Amino acid sequence: MRLLVCGASGQLGAAIVKMFTNRADVVPMTRAALDIADAAAVGRAVADASPEAIVNCAAYNDVDGAEDDASTALSANAIGVLTLARAARSRGATFVHYSTDFVFDGTLDRPYTEDDEPKPQSVYAASKLLGEWFAADAPSHYVLRVESLFGGPRRRSTVDRIVDAVRDGKPSRVFVDRTVSPSYVEDVAGATARLLALRPASGVYHCVNSGWTTWYELAKRIVEILDRPAELVPVRVADVPLRARRPQYAALSNRKLRDAGIEMPSWEEALARYLTSP
Ligand SMILES: NC(=O)c1ccc[n+]([C@@H]2O[C@H](COP(=O)([O-])OP(=O)(O)OC[C@H]3O[C@@H](n4cnc5c(N)ncnc54)[C@H](OP(=O)(O)O)[C@@H]3O)[C@@H](O)[C@H]2O)c1
Repeated sequence: MRLLVCGASGQLGAAIVKMFTNRADVVPMTRAALDIADAAAVGRAVADASPEAIVNCAAYNDVDGAEDDASTALSANAIGVLTLARAARSRGATFVHYSTDFVFDGTLDRPYTEDDEPKPQSVYAASKLLGEWFAADAPSHYVLRVESLFGGPRRRSTVDRIVDAVRDGKPSRVFVDRTVSPSYVEDVAGATARLLALRPASGVYHCVNSGWTTWYELAKRIVEILDRPAELVPVRVADVPLRARRPQYAALSNRKLRDAGIEMPSWEEALARYLTSP
């Protein structure tokens, strides 16, 4: 299979390229090589690569910055996705795209399923929801909602921020009242490979490590695994003013993915694997 990967140098993009390198003919496209919002460039790249699947890891992810720069967020997260989906449709390629738990408002008290109604609370979230809708322009498409990604070369994730603080013996401020289902990029990449092999029905799938936790509990687990003395400072969402609203309860259910034959490892196991990998 020939695979065009957009956003190839990002956190997830690098993991996707690594996962597929020995399984497929991968054409990695960094942002410098391909701006997904440039329709003419996308047309040329897709014609040149002639892919059977287009995997889009490119996105504008500055959640707070998007409040002041909606046009850049919309251009990458919505228009760029539409451009790629149309290119996939015209070549008969499968389109894989990634979205976010932020499409929900975070007011439920049980894990969100794909049937729950999105209620985006920020410009970033609205731009990602538009991207989900536009991705469906490709008749064969998978939109994988991921959350709190960790792993990959950039070390910019919240997990990495806590890990680095613990390793450096510095205090870490962590939310006691935000619930998340974290996603290890290696496992998201593995699920993407399985999806392209199994080919379940097109649509939206939640693709996170199984289970959920607060950031505080997750930080405690990091400290246990690293086995170092550490100071974790509990903070509450209400005490940290942020530009964009975030869902406070954002556990996602993986059931639809599991029913499609793809089991996601638990977040505890994924975190241990990440922290003990060489
Ligand atoms: N990170 C998370 O915790 C998280 C949570 C939920 C959902 N997601 C979703 O998961 C996917 C992967 O996220 P990630 O964390 O791997 O993102 P990332 O590390 O920020 O990588 C995104 C990549 O896209 C590139 N990019 C931005 N605008 C572009 C454009 N117009 N054309 C081409 N490339 C462009 C970026 O380049 P520059 O670095 O040069 O800007 C970067 O290389 C995204 O869809 C994201 O929305 C992520």
